[in-house]
Amino acid sequence: MKTVRIAVFGLNHGFKFASDALKLPGVELIAVAGDNELSKKRAKELNVPLYKNYKDLVNECSLDGAIITLPNRLHKEAVEVCAKKGVHVLVEKPIASTIEEGEDIIRQCAQSNVKLMVGHHRRFSSKVAKLKEIISSGLLGEIVGVNMLYVLAKDRSYFAESWRLVQGGGPLLINGIHDIDTLRFVTGLNIESVYAAARNSIRKNQVEDSASILLETRGGATVNFFISDGVPSPWSYDCNLRENPKFYHYDENCFYFFGTKGSLSFPSLKMYSYEEENYGWEHKLIEEKFSVEDNDPMTAELVHFVEVLRGESEPVVTGEDGLETLKVINAIKESAAREQKIYLYK
Ligand SMILES: NC(=O)c1ccc[n+]([C@@H]2O[C@H](COP(=O)([O-])OP(=O)(O)OC[C@H]3O[C@@H](n4cnc5c(N)ncnc54)[C@H](O)[C@@H]3O)[C@@H](O)[C@H]2O)c1
Repeated sequence: MKTVRIAVFGLNHGFKFASDALKLPGVELIAVAGDNELSKKRAKELNVPLYKNYKDLVNECSLDGAIITLPNRLHKEAVEVCAKKGVHVLVEKPIASTIEEGEDIIRQCAQSNVKLMVGHHRRFSSKVAKLKEIISSGLLGEIVGVNMLYVLAKDRSYFAESWRLVQGGGPLLINGIHDIDTLRFVTGLNIESVYAAARNSIRKNQVEDSASILLETRGGATVNFFISDGVPSPWSYDCNLRENPKFYHYDENCFYFFGTKGSLSFPSLKMYSYEEENYGWEHKLIEEKFSVEDNDPMTAELVHFVEVLRGESEPVVTGEDGLETLKVINAIKESAAREQKIYLYK
């Protein structure tokens, strides 16, 4: 098996990738990059060389791949530096700060013939994969509607970072982007228009702290999505899936899918339907529960990136996927700002 040489840029969210990389057979973590005190401490823990500037790392090290977990504003520049050196990249979500930068990233990687993967790690969740499998099997019939919640309270220290109080730091771009990507992935629905009403009434910061969103999709299905990061509540993907130990777990659901033949809650994976001869509200719904073993999606994502580096797989989350999801989030923000329905395709 070919050993692949990788580096991780950014040691906050990136620390998990770096720690996992050390445990994976056939993977050599060559170096890490970070420019603050926490990075120094973590690089020491990992026992790998630390570069203050990721550009010096790329210039001095021979790499197959880089994992870019830098602040969003640096994604485009970092991908370009890697692509020019022929280094394949896994760049965190959102692919970039703007659509134009996302397009540039895709173009640059194609021109340089390097593989580009975007860090929508939920696509590697075993539960999400099962959800996609159930929906794709047609058991629910045609999807008519979806109801999604991402509602929780972030702890107070979270807001000590000033960038989290201004545009780009709100729950839509940080958290909601995962729910939108999951929706697109599991249903395959194409979102055609959005209408959103956003508020900052809880914390009064520049950025939203809650939003109600209505999505219309090609084919007709409609989606409701309520998001808030300032409300005590047990209903959110992060608190309901046990995939990240940082979040207190609640055995609750955050998504509901409604089809012409049945309905399904997630992550409980309970499906409700009628037998044809006992159809309708006078009858008891048939309840069926699906199950699947939990996994660690971020580790699975890293394993997949290593397969991509070995040439055994093509990225399952492409630059185009990352860009499409970002377009929906941007349309939601634009709709809220202009108090208008926004069409994604003319
Ligand atoms: N997939 C997910 O669930 C998830 C979760 C959290 C964050 N993220 C994404 O990961 C990225 C990073 O987020 P974060 O919360 O870790 O950010 P952060 O600001 O907390 O950390 C950024 C890291 O980058 C380093 N850094 C900054 N500039 C640098 C430079 N020029 N050279 C070298 N190192 C530099 C910092 O030292 C730090 O280690 C963002 O794109 C974010 O959206 C994804």
